[in-house]
Amino acid sequence: MQFSAIHTSPPELPSIIIPLMQDDYLEGHLNDFTEGLGLDGYIPFKGKAKEVFPIFRGKTCYFLLGLGSKVGLVELKDAFSSLVRTQKNILSGQLGINTNRLHLSPKLLGEAIANGMILGQYTFEPYKTENKEVKSLERVWVQNEDIEALGEGLIRGKFAGETQCQMMDLMNAPANKMKPQHFADWAVQSARDHGYLVEVFDKKALEALKMHAVLSVAQGSASDPLLIVAQYAPADAQGDIPHIGLVGKGVTYDTGGLSIKTSNMHYMKSDMGGGVAVLGALELAAKWRLPIRLTAVVPAVENDVDARSTKPGDVIDSFSGKTIEVIDTDAEGRLVLADGLSFLTKEYHPDVLIDAATLTGNSVMALGYCAGALMSNDDELANQLQEAGQQVGERVWRMPIWEEYGLEMKSDIADIRNYSERPLAGSITAAKFIENFINEHPKWAHMDIAGVAFGNTEYGKQSKGGTAFGARLLVAYFEKLIQDKNYLLHS
Ligand code: BES
Ligand code: ZN
Ligand code: ZN
Repeated sequence: MQFSAIHTSPPELPSIIIPLMQDDYLEGHLNDFTEGLGLDGYIPFKGKAKEVFPIFRGKTCYFLLGLGSKVGLVELKDAFSSLVRTQKNILSGQLGINTNRLHLSPKLLGEAIANGMILGQYTFEPYKTENKEVKSLERVWVQNEDIEALGEGLIRGKFAGETQCQMMDLMNAPANKMKPQHFADWAVQSARDHGYLVEVFDKKALEALKMHAVLSVAQGSASDPLLIVAQYAPADAQGDIPHIGLVGKGVTYDTGGLSIKTSNMHYMKSDMGGGVAVLGALELAAKWRLPIRLTAVVPAVENDVDARSTKPGDVIDSFSGKTIEVIDTDAEGRLVLADGLSFLTKEYHPDVLIDAATLTGNSVMALGYCAGALMSNDDELANQLQEAGQQVGERVWRMPIWEEYGLEMKSDIADIRNYSERPLAGSITAAKFIENFINEHPKWAHMDIAGVAFGNTEYGKQSKGGTAFGARLLVAYFEKLIQDKNYLLHS
């Protein structure tokens, strides 16, 4: 989809979208509009969020698009995404959007429009051989007085939307088409396309590094484990820029191992939502050329059942040197995160450490599908992440990590165990486990995104789908950090 920022829309466009807020000016706007077109009669349009009212006039169809009364990036994006999805049969390939009636920042407008329209057109159909949806939107002309700021926003939104679609593709691909190698190949290609570095460590390298926890999870799988390490720094970095370390759970399929799952196993093709989120954030930061340094570590593994699988009760080693009693092989995410976090802190010394993972069913029990669970040892970092999430519609909600919860993870025969044997406060005890592997990093946050990375989506009618949760949140956090610390933005 191509976007152009213009002062006046080209003549004869078959579709024109007019976004309108539900406010005191709506009636006046509607009167001007009907008079301008020479229409008479009442238009029953209220401006409610996502409301669409098409008016055919000559060769053009005007779509009044409701935004609701409180409008920000999220509401705008959602309205445009919904419009594209619900009106796909009548919207023309070339269309115009007239934003002159909105008193909103043109940069924000541009970002939300491009982002929403790209997401609205998302489908996942590579394995369909018939009845594929035709994607018809080609060119969008957006009209505003400040075309420079609008154009900047449109590029931001387009870049974000394209990264998010790739993330959803990774999540939606079935496990027989998305093994650790495919995931790593995607990262290598993304790095090539967008100017950052990716290194992939194979099983031999992981053995040499003593990544025993990662290896133990992959032990029962026909696919070897891989460790993806991605690094981004802007080419024209000046002065002291913050270095953020990211770790994402990249379990391309989670059977549960010998503690095998008894229901909904098919959803576990998307157990790499954390890995996808951190790599998506890296890709987007690289595309937006943010003045920030990022290092992301993603262990890509399959948790499968085999005679060689780790058994419940086994004691394994880890990169950190700590021994772990594996009570439940289905608590595998924390094992791969443990090695990822100790490796990252030991080798790369980031200023801030953030991990993301589809880690526990308990986080879904606690917060449902509305927010991810956030746990942190630093109030400032927790607040920044929470605010960033709120700003972009990817909410996280903080949970405590008091010492008492950690007592549950003590093992009789090893340094620590991977499950408390009690299904209570499961996201918190998981976080307490992980905390043992951060090398006492003072600024660490853990995001359990099990309920939000994969859920009911607008494009999925029969089943759950990937949501691309996390990348936009992380990038919003990076921008906050850049602004707060007065780092200069280069473009
Ligand atoms: N991948 C799952 C968590 C999950 C659950 C993700 C639902 C998405 C939706 C994770 O590896 C897991 O199985 N966790 C167990 C941990 C338990 C055995 C301590 C869980 O939450 O039940
Ligand atoms: Zn599991
Ligand atoms: Zn899992």
